[in-house]
Amino acid sequence: MKINFKVENKLNWCVNLMNMKFNDIVNGVAAGTSAYQLWGSVVAIERGVIHIAGLRSLARIGDRVEIHGQVSSFGEIIAIRDEFVLAMPDSSMNGMSPGDRAYLHASKEVRPSNAWVGNVMNCDGVYADGQLTPQGERAMMLNPLGPSITGRRGLGERLNTRMAPFDTFLPICKGQRIGLFAGSGVGKSMLVGELAKGMEADIVIVALIGERSREVREFVTEILGAEGRARAVVFASTCEEPAPSKRRCALMAITAAEYFRDQGLHVLLLFDSITRFADAHREIALTAGETPSLRAYPPSTFRAIASLAERTGPGAQGSGDITAIFSVLVAGSDMDEPVADMVRSILDGHVVLDREISERGRFPAINIRRSVSRSLPKAASDDENALLAEARVLISAYDDASAMIQTGLYATGSDPVIDRAIDVWPRLEGFVSEQAESCAVSFEKLKTTLTPPSQSEDESDL
Ligand SMILES: Nc1ncnc2c1ncn2[C@@H]1O[C@H](COP(=O)(O)OP(=O)(O)OP(=O)(O)O)[C@@H](O)[C@H]1O
Ligand SMILES: [Mg+2]
Repeated sequence: MKINFKVENKLNWCVNLMNMKFNDIVNGVAAGTSAYQLWGSVVAIERGVIHIAGLRSLARIGDRVEIHGQVSSFGEIIAIRDEFVLAMPDSSMNGMSPGDRAYLHASKEVRPSNAWVGNVMNCDGVYADGQLTPQGERAMMLNPLGPSITGRRGLGERLNTRMAPFDTFLPICKGQRIGLFAGSGVGKSMLVGELAKGMEADIVIVALIGERSREVREFVTEILGAEGRARAVVFASTCEEPAPSKRRCALMAITAAEYFRDQGLHVLLLFDSITRFADAHREIALTAGETPSLRAYPPSTFRAIASLAERTGPGAQGSGDITAIFSVLVAGSDMDEPVADMVRSILDGHVVLDREISERGRFPAINIRRSVSRSLPKAASDDENALLAEARVLISAYDDASAMIQTGLYATGSDPVIDRAIDVWPRLEGFVSEQAESCAVSFEKLKTTLTPPSQSEDESDL
């Protein structure tokens, strides 16, 4: 067909105008400012996902949909196929049926605010008690990249933690990222609470992912208390919430930490637990069709954990730092299970909590021998490093001979190192549970702890 040049120009102009109008509508819907609402239809519901037709060319991964039919519910778009999109619902699918409308709500930016401090927030970044949540000026994405490699500072100074083992054996420096590894019920959350109250920081962000709701309440009211809450924002997504909510809550917490970091503040991020985050990611990725790998974790799990961890750490010039502590639930104390292995390889240190130690009532149940802070030896002076090496030799000697010592098979005098280890052991155990004023005072105490009782008595006699 031949079209006159002038007519063709007019047609082009009309098509362009229609495109512009359409884009205006789509962008307006994305920004939440349009009077229009885009919707598609539910065509199938199976295996935990909703298939929606009509939104394929408009939806993006991470967008929200609102399903309207006999029941009303929200969901998150997790995959886009040839003919339809897949959404994972936030609540039960009971009552949903093909033909229900699915309204598209583009994923919104988050606007963290200084007024959030002292509050408990849910996965949508709103106050958990339902009060109106203040919004800040700055719009932030939930999934940005971390600071550039070249612009990033190195680890900062050693931080006072108010806990003797962290002030000495396992120092935490500004911007350092540490993993707390333990089986269930060994004391991860209690330790996270202690650090939230005592550790040096301007702001504390706590992400409670996949905990029981009773535990969240106890953590906020009893463990954190008024003192801890005064400088903290808690983000909580409990175990019964769907996987997309847990993942969104984790991203919300990291985004809030970045917001405070960019104001030049030192942020302490306490993340309990990264295992539950990985489980949520696994559920979403498998539902979206990814292939399961080791223990059914799909290959993208490593990237999901790494991108969380990389967003924390030292900031770029002119901004603050995010010091991060991630708890890791290790089933059956297997430190080589996939998530534990991934986290250990990404972070700057690992602290192992031991069930055997917690069972004999010593808290925090840190196994000093198996725990490492990668900020050492740089973070301590030569004298301090020598003291730590001496203490570690004694701990290892006692540990290796403990079965013989407990059963009475060890004969005093057989090995001078074991004799000395037996001598200082009760005081060393006490030292690990001690509260501390500062790193310097803790090292002084450790020095006294390692001085054999007989020698300290001699010195006091002089
Ligand atoms: N510092 C402590 N002092 C006294 N008891 C403690 C201490 N830390 C932990 N416990 C005991 O251990 C129990 C479990 O602690 P916590 O809830 O912190 O474990 P968890 O590792 O977070 O468990 P889960 O894996 O179920 O989340 C507590 O209820 C308490 O009895
Ligand atoms: Mg816990």
